[in-house]
Amino acid sequence: MTYREIVPGLCWVGANDWDRRLFDELIPLPQGTSYNAYLIRGKEKTALIDTVDPRKEGVLLENLRSLGLSSIDYLVVNHAEQDHSGAIPCILEAFPGIKIVTNAKCQEFLQSHLLLADDVFYPVQDRDTLSLGDRTLEFLITPWVHWPETMLTYLQEDKILFTCDFFGSHLASSDLYARDLPRIYEASKRYYAEIMMPFRVNINTHLERLKDYEIRMIATSHGPIWDDPEFILDAYADWVSDRVKNEVMIAYVSMHGSTRAMVDYLVDALVKRGVTVKLYNLAVTDLGEMAISLVDAGTIVIGTPTVLFNPHPTALYAAHLVRILRPKARYAAVIGSYGWGGKTLRVLSDMFSGSTMKFLDPVLVKGYPTEEGFRALDRLADSIAERHRDDPLVIKDQ
Ligand SMILES: Cc1cc2nc3c(=O)[nH]c(=O)nc-3n(C[C@H](O)[C@H](O)[C@H](O)COP(=O)(O)O)c2cc1C
Ligand SMILES: [Fe+2]
Ligand SMILES: [Fe+2]
Repeated sequence: MTYREIVPGLCWVGANDWDRRLFDELIPLPQGTSYNAYLIRGKEKTALIDTVDPRKEGVLLENLRSLGLSSIDYLVVNHAEQDHSGAIPCILEAFPGIKIVTNAKCQEFLQSHLLLADDVFYPVQDRDTLSLGDRTLEFLITPWVHWPETMLTYLQEDKILFTCDFFGSHLASSDLYARDLPRIYEASKRYYAEIMMPFRVNINTHLERLKDYEIRMIATSHGPIWDDPEFILDAYADWVSDRVKNEVMIAYVSMHGSTRAMVDYLVDALVKRGVTVKLYNLAVTDLGEMAISLVDAGTIVIGTPTVLFNPHPTALYAAHLVRILRPKARYAAVIGSYGWGGKTLRVLSDMFSGSTMKFLDPVLVKGYPTEEGFRALDRLADSIAERHRDDPLVIKDQ
């Protein structure tokens, strides 16, 4: 796709990656992604904001060439991850003399990952500005809007904030701006869940800081540009808040149906008690869907049989993802079936030992669940419904 003008002198010069289906060899991309880069032409200087994934560097170069650029003065790098920085060597070669404008931590990461020389860098600090003549860039150091070196770039005169991963969505689209809002909301929430959620506390601080800035557009480096930024700012405020919903996320696996029978019973028991359930069979689910539910869930339940004395490896993997994504859920529980014994419960409770979630009484049954097992699941459902009702951080208005 060709370059797109946003305002006179500012163009999108990135690339859509319609076919990509996996990111970081981990994250499913059901709708592809985009790597957005932007070119700003000031009266005196030009600046490129971020680059693209190396697999699309030819598209970036073509876009820059079709703008008729023979030289570029600055390359602003907001984030060192290769989906935005990987085309830097190619840009350095195509535009000799270009200076990489970034913070010291990002310089360190760029040098270690891309083996760049010292003399190509133009270091900046928090709130530093850089004039392009009639336009001014201001840099805000905002660690952990993915990695520890991340920063934002604010184009003062146009009031446009370039945020790289922050507020992004993995979505290949011919829409330059966010238009299909339900679809983009879902993609942005998935992105938040997978990339940003572990840094919820830092993000909250950054959101507070952004209140000092008038923002007309948020130009991220994945997915469409927010030309009505309130929508995504409000969504982020909701996601990072301490409040959870009256929802239970159940992720389970079952080899022969015993754990499945327990899960089915628990789903009905919760629904009868007015609790919303999001259910994921780990054998078939897209883990990104599970991650989205972690943004809101008040309680997380892992359902697993015991396999070779341990949780089923698939459940263990999902539990590990839950742990590292650090959802704000208030409660957790384990249910499942075993044949003769093992350490399923210990392994899972050790895994979550540092978490702030309160562990509810587990329900482990031998073989297929009997009346006694179902009564234990009723008690678990009672406990979840009561806690959700009494906990001031659980939103009731659903
Ligand atoms: C490969 C395999 C390994 C197992 N290892 C154990 C074990 O170490 N300890 C145990 O108590 N049960 C073990 N079991 C038995 C299952 O935990 C038991 O059959 C359980 O009811 C299965 O639940 P499901 O129908 O939800 O898969 C194993 C079963 C399989 C198929
Ligand atoms: Fe990133
Ligand atoms: Fe990214």
